[in-house]
Amino acid sequence: MKFILSFLVLLGMSLNAEVKYPSSESCNECHENIYREHTASMHHKSSLFKDEVHAKVKEAVNKDTYKCAICHMPATKNLRAVMSGEKQPDPNSYRQTDGVSCFFCHQISKIYDSKAHKINFSNYKGEKKPTVFGNLKKPYESNEHESQSNEIYKNSEVCMGCHSHKQNAKGFEVCNTKNQYDKTSDCIGCHMPSTPGTIEKKDKGIRNNYASHEFLGVHSLDMVKKAVKLELAYKDEVLNLTITNKMGHSIITHPMRLKFAKTVITRDSKVVWTNFKDSPLEDKQATFIIVFKDEDGKPALPNKAIDYKLNRNLKANTSKTVTYKVPKLQKGDEIKTTWISYIVNPKIAKKLDITTKDIVKPYVGVEESLYIY
Ligand code: HEC
Ligand code: HEC
Ligand code: HEC
Ligand code: HEC
Ligand code: HEC
Repeated sequence: MKFILSFLVLLGMSLNAEVKYPSSESCNECHENIYREHTASMHHKSSLFKDEVHAKVKEAVNKDTYKCAICHMPATKNLRAVMSGEKQPDPNSYRQTDGVSCFFCHQISKIYDSKAHKINFSNYKGEKKPTVFGNLKKPYESNEHESQSNEIYKNSEVCMGCHSHKQNAKGFEVCNTKNQYDKTSDCIGCHMPSTPGTIEKKDKGIRNNYASHEFLGVHSLDMVKKAVKLELAYKDEVLNLTITNKMGHSIITHPMRLKFAKTVITRDSKVVWTNFKDSPLEDKQATFIIVFKDEDGKPALPNKAIDYKLNRNLKANTSKTVTYKVPKLQKGDEIKTTWISYIVNPKIAKKLDITTKDIVKPYVGVEESLYIY
């Protein structure tokens, strides 16, 4: 009798208990190095609860719907309802505040093409011991999950589910990385460098390195310094500046950014020439920016865009040479060019009242100098 009772209790429990969607925090028990890095990354901070810029743009675009959720908080339960505005985002739901969560990324098994953007195919069916995908050779057995290697975690296709392209409701493509992506593009190589340390706490001493999960990009000074190479050459009142994009994608991947080379010529510590006076936009060659226009030809947010007003960009691994007519230089003159990068174009930051210091400040990248002898 006692046996039957406890059997029934057990049965009832297993019927009612819903398997909990794995939170990012649950991975910390074993993957502490990766978890620490991930929580500081823009993937963890991608939801409207943790990124001021995203939240303010979302407000300006549409107060009711949240179509952005499919990429910015893809692990959301009832994703469709939150996207359509039938349900509002919920700060108490970890599946939303987790942003691009650990488990979401690691259960993507395929990427499908769609016109508006690519789609991540979820392999998760609510199993108690789900399968996570990765790129390890012979992973150790875990109590938490099964492990399986999958080609897309090696050739970077897994990144394209969200980073490929995006069309707005008017059918205009407001960002595009896919035209520069092929199976040899190494997003993972540049953005997840091998780092000394253990993958898993009880590491059995075979692996000494793990793939970094900081996903550093335009918010990192070290990365901004790796964006471009600058070269200077002067002859007969002509200054040539060659800018080489060293990245695996365009200089501008996101329309809020502003990136440019500032060039200054000094003589006896006095400035005798600069490539722009008040705004970098005056220099049409060495400033990289995207500005959209709406149906009336006015500058527009991406959701209202029907075309470009300005499209000054430079594709992956390509160079351009900018030619300036400058005053005749003499011995002792110094030419100095500096790469400067803004996460949000100051004009847009002002309009949207974005105030976070680390977001509005300029990031100073590489510098190149030439002295006249
Ligand atoms: C197809 C996937 C996708 C959709 C849909 C999407 N985004 Fe994004 N979003 C991204 C990716 C990927 C990035 C990072 C791009 C980069 O840095 O170049 C990003 C970056 C951003 C940023 C820059 C954040 C920063 O840190 O400066 C803003 C703002 C933003 N998105 C707003 C939105 C809004 C608002 C929506 C909905 C109206 C939206 N996005 C819909 C994929 C998407
Ligand atoms: C109880 C411990 C434990 C927990 C909790 C845990 N893992 Fe693991 N995980 C492991 C072990 C052990 C390995 C194998 C490590 C190795 O071989 O070096 C592993 C490997 C992995 C791999 C590599 C798989 C491959 O085939 O390349 C991924 C991805 C992964 N875990 C993701 C996660 C995610 C996401 C979470 C949280 C939802 C999580 N893990 C929680 C123990 C754990
Ligand atoms: C499920 C969607 C998704 C996937 C898959 C994804 N990302 Fe992202 N990623 C985003 C979003 C959204 C942002 C922007 C977050 C923000 O700034 O609000 C982002 C931001 C970034 C950034 C910018 C960091 C910064 O400083 O601005 C880098 C770099 C990045 N992702 C690289 C990758 C790489 C490499 C992969 C593949 C291993 C990948 N992402 C896979 C959605 C995704
Ligand atoms: C050769 C190295 C390299 C490769 C390959 C590469 N990146 Fe980057 N990426 C960088 C550097 C350096 C930066 C930071 C400088 C900057 O953003 O101006 C960056 C910035 C980014 C950003 C933030 C850009 C912004 O302005 O918001 C995203 C998102 C990103 N990369 C995603 C990807 C994805 C997805 C791939 C694969 C298709 C990829 N990267 C391939 C080097 C690389
Ligand atoms: C944006 C997608 C993305 C997110 C978010 C993400 N990972 Fe990964 N992870 C990857 C990719 C891609 C690899 C394969 C990297 C490689 O092989 O170089 C990887 C590798 C791993 C590995 C194997 C370690 C190794 O060195 O290859 C583990 C374990 C892991 N991730 C756990 C986690 C955990 C835990 C989190 C959250 C704390 C997390 N991942 C978040 C994309 C992601």
